[in-house]
Amino acid sequence: MFNIIYLSTANHLFTDFELAEILSVSRDNNVANELTGMLMYAGGTFMQVLEGEREAVMATYHKILLDDRHRNVIELAAGPLQTRNFPDWSMGFASVNADVLEEFEGYVDPQSQSFLNSEKVNAAIIMLKGFAENNKMN
Ligand SMILES: Cc1cc2nc3c(=O)[nH]c(=O)nc-3n(C[C@H](O)[C@H](O)[C@H](O)COP(=O)(O)O)c2cc1C
Repeated sequence: MFNIIYLSTANHLFTDFELAEILSVSRDNNVANELTGMLMYAGGTFMQVLEGEREAVMATYHKILLDDRHRNVIELAAGPLQTRNFPDWSMGFASVNADVLEEFEGYVDPQSQSFLNSEKVNAAIIMLKGFAENNKMN
């Protein structure tokens, strides 16, 4: 197992509909590629964790790098992983303004007690929590 974590800047402020579009395509592809992870969006910034077999992660990451819906992709961490942090999500999702997206399967309320409640202490979890905290997602 391998994972990669990045930050990027959305090319414009995304609507719920546009986010749902990314999620929908991502989930179909990720199921096929046995990838899991989490995508967070706040005020025009994305943070994503992608995990799976190294080749599958890198192939998808390279597609994502070329996507003109965002820019300034900054790789925060990449490396081997003992076990998946998000085994149940083909792409979990959290957003500041998620009135519509709450209905989406895999939506995580960043305010909830169980948000990223993990006994695992590793880079992906720490960075996602920090991102949520700094953007005061509610
Ligand atoms: C912020 C962001 C996150 C994305 N995450 C994924 C992802 O997890 N998996 C995926 O397949 N595509 C993801 N995409 C979409 C890819 O860039 C690309 O549009 C898509 O994989 C193309 O799918 P296709 O080859 O089936 O047409 C993401 C795009 C953006 C902007």
